[in-house]
Amino acid sequence: MLVQGALQLPGDKSISHRAIMLSAIADGVSCVRNLNDGADLQSTINILRDCGASIEQKEDEIIINGKKLHSPSKDLDCGNSGTTTRLVSGLLSSQKLIFTLTGDESLSKRPMKRIVTPLVGMGCKISSNNGLLPLSIDASDGITAIDYDMTVASAQVKSCILFSALGGNNISIINEIIPTRNHSEIMLKNMGVSIEREGSKIIVHPLKSKLKSIDISVPSDPSSAAFFAALAVINNNSNLKLTNVLLNESRIGFVEVLNQMNCLISKSNESVHNGEKVGDLTISSSNLKATEIKSETIPSIIDEVPILAVVAAFANGTTVFKNVEELKYKECDRLRAIIHNLEAFGIKAYEKNNDLFVEGGKVKRMPKITTFDDHRIAMAFTILSLTSFKKYELDNRSCVDISLPNFFNYLSEITK
Ligand code: S3P
Repeated sequence: MLVQGALQLPGDKSISHRAIMLSAIADGVSCVRNLNDGADLQSTINILRDCGASIEQKEDEIIINGKKLHSPSKDLDCGNSGTTTRLVSGLLSSQKLIFTLTGDESLSKRPMKRIVTPLVGMGCKISSNNGLLPLSIDASDGITAIDYDMTVASAQVKSCILFSALGGNNISIINEIIPTRNHSEIMLKNMGVSIEREGSKIIVHPLKSKLKSIDISVPSDPSSAAFFAALAVINNNSNLKLTNVLLNESRIGFVEVLNQMNCLISKSNESVHNGEKVGDLTISSSNLKATEIKSETIPSIIDEVPILAVVAAFANGTTVFKNVEELKYKECDRLRAIIHNLEAFGIKAYEKNNDLFVEGGKVKRMPKITTFDDHRIAMAFTILSLTSFKKYELDNRSCVDISLPNFFNYLSEITK
């Protein structure tokens, strides 16, 4: 198959959530363009509206009129979105609100104790279903500052604490040994918050006045770009350009990993917008060799492991992803889902002590892809199937709507 052309993808999901949430409590009118068009963002928008936010969705921009939010009169439905659940918990507690968060079947299995512990430490009264949703949070007594050592490498947990700390009575400190995506820190600084990183510590001051409003065009999502980049590297004679991609170092570990695997990926047109690096990626096919991905690299490829495992299936040798335990707690148990689907295609893959091993080899058969209703599993294995058989069959096509509703259209735009 020939992969050729150029794509400009919708906005980054992580930055989109943060832009909408923080604008909702900012001073005056904010404008957000190129918002991620997935269902997760709609969950965030609906929840904020349930708390009184003024969010107007126009065709190519979102206008948010910052307001004092109020406690909702009904449960807040986070749908499938872990980012919504964890970040909204922090945001609404900074506003001293009382609220209950619910979610779909997948989200209701994902661990929430990781945010309950710090939020309780900050003075919230919380009840949960044994560390799972529904989560009822009462922050009406106000937020006390915290000095917190992160126990998991999670940008969602970090952001929950940072957002909550905005309403704190003093300076909060988060000790993050393994760095994770830093969009919250960058955006908060741009909106006037006093926030600094000193070594592994992030020091954040509570708000003295309201956040400054923002005017932002969200760069394209590198986690979506990774699927098309992978398609180009595993198909001979390909040449693909992905434009206006977010190039924040904490997000583009996949570019480094692919380069390590002998791929040809170059960056161009680099610039900085609203504190975030943006640029174009040009990708061509190459002879792939296996690699070992260190545990410290995992946070920068946390959402790209499924598609990198697919690339590893086409590489010469065994690729090892060290310490990918966190994959078990995503939209599905992605460690199991990756191994299940690779094996179904006839590629040997297994887990040992939370390390994932993928033995590059010949794809032997075309199964119906088991998505586990997970968008990234669906997209990763569509790429594998399309490359090997020029067709694919999924048990659930619509789950791609969570982050990239036009995935299949983009695929047809660049394949021949
Ligand atoms: C996200 C952080 C990551 C990532 C998720 C988005 C964010 O989750 O997997 O898709 O926007 O902060 P964890 O922080 O739980 O690793």
